[in-house]
Amino acid sequence: MALEYLLGVDLGTSGTKTVLFDTDGNTVASATIEYPMYQPQNGWAEQDPADWWNAAKDTIRSVLDQSGVDPALVRGIGISGQMHGLVMLDENGNVLRRSIIWCDQRTAAECEEITEKIGAQRLIEITANPALTGFTASKILWVRNHEPEIYAKCRHILLPKDYVRYMLTGEYATEVSDASGMQLLDVANRCWSKEVLEKLDIDESLLAKMYESPDVTGTVTKEAAALTGLKEGTPVAGGAGDNAAAAVGTGVVEEGKAFTTLGTSGVVFAHSDRVTIDPQGRVHTFCSAVPGCWTVMSCTLAAGLSLHWFRDNFCKEEMVAADGIGKDPYFLMDQEAARVPIGANHLIYMPYLMGERSPKLDPNARGVFFGLSAIHTKYDMLRAVLEGVIYSQRECLDILRGMGVVSSEMLACGGGGTSPLWRQMMADVYNLPVRTSSSKEGPALGAAILAGVAAGVYESVPAACRKLVKASDPQPPIAENHDKYEPFYQLYCKLYPAMKDCFAQLQTAAD
Ligand code: XUL
Repeated sequence: MALEYLLGVDLGTSGTKTVLFDTDGNTVASATIEYPMYQPQNGWAEQDPADWWNAAKDTIRSVLDQSGVDPALVRGIGISGQMHGLVMLDENGNVLRRSIIWCDQRTAAECEEITEKIGAQRLIEITANPALTGFTASKILWVRNHEPEIYAKCRHILLPKDYVRYMLTGEYATEVSDASGMQLLDVANRCWSKEVLEKLDIDESLLAKMYESPDVTGTVTKEAAALTGLKEGTPVAGGAGDNAAAAVGTGVVEEGKAFTTLGTSGVVFAHSDRVTIDPQGRVHTFCSAVPGCWTVMSCTLAAGLSLHWFRDNFCKEEMVAADGIGKDPYFLMDQEAARVPIGANHLIYMPYLMGERSPKLDPNARGVFFGLSAIHTKYDMLRAVLEGVIYSQRECLDILRGMGVVSSEMLACGGGGTSPLWRQMMADVYNLPVRTSSSKEGPALGAAILAGVAAGVYESVPAACRKLVKASDPQPPIAENHDKYEPFYQLYCKLYPAMKDCFAQLQTAAD
């Protein structure tokens, strides 16, 4: 029986989940607190950093209280979180405005500005990505262009999880996996790019100190100890962006391993021992949480978000029924969707509710039900949503395959990965066996493992993963289903190019 513990804090978009693990990787206690996402305009997305800190502090306190564990036995804390969000602080460390988060699409003009100042090719060479509305650099420029009085007061720029670190330790620190999504990092050399900062006229002193993910970045302050119940001086590791942390938590830390996350966003993620960049920038190359390694990943913006949207707008009945029998509404929705045949009775859903990032970078794209007819029911639409989200992941996987980043099986993660129906769809559409990780805690476990390496509990990230992370038996693809999905998938791929110009027109139609 392990006598020591590690804490993983995962700052997600819908809420923060904190899990206390023992050093054998068993979950001891877990707590989640949700918070809102504000959408002040179509395509905008903001959150309040105070909500993140309150959720982190209260969930930490809750897991310590629930478990009765002596805080002195918590060897370290790791934080993972939603990437790319912009947190701006003044000289006293106070938040200057709500955070503009990863799925916000307001910065198309700033992306053009970035491309013009750095050059499209050079930008991809250094930051491994084209200018992206989702990434932090364009958000910084947006504030400078639209809220100059706020920019003038800004002294510190942090990512969401790094704000929680700041509140815990008082340190302005970040680490390479999350910093890769700021578009200010020299991804091959794992340091801030002086060239990009100079050309964009961003002062390096605004940025946090850079660490590798399993490094100690600071320790819990007396004030934070009083607020959370942690012991003053407990080390806080670099941690990682949510996807890089999920990779650690699911053991995707070696060449040839990959996972798909169906969370709010949809991510296909593969580990790589070398820097591989898509010259067209359709998928991202980031630093891995494993020192000396990189990752290639795609990100679609409305995977779980599509289902969440469908639930909230069309499935009130299921929500009430589920409440009555103490089940999750998604469980009942899955049962209904499973009754609809493959292809949703010839209905295809395009999941571009928040614009799209991978593999087609288009802030103007919007959701579509293609082929709607009077025969269709709500449940056909529901099945189409589930299928469309998987088609969008397959399109990304095909790009990774084209780059030579391959895997012979897939791990399914995130809330959506817990649905047997969605997992089977993934296996069938990808034509790959799909496993799930034995731990449901993906990013929180990854963050805790990084804390364990930082605190010297484990020798290295891969060694810890070999010891702690186990996967379920594979769920194989069903050949007959694959053949049925394939024509719908091929048609799905044709729809966006056919509608691209219409999406742009829709945005300006009423102006
Ligand atoms: C990755 C990305 C999302 C967020 C939110 O590039 O934008 O996965 O990290 O989960």
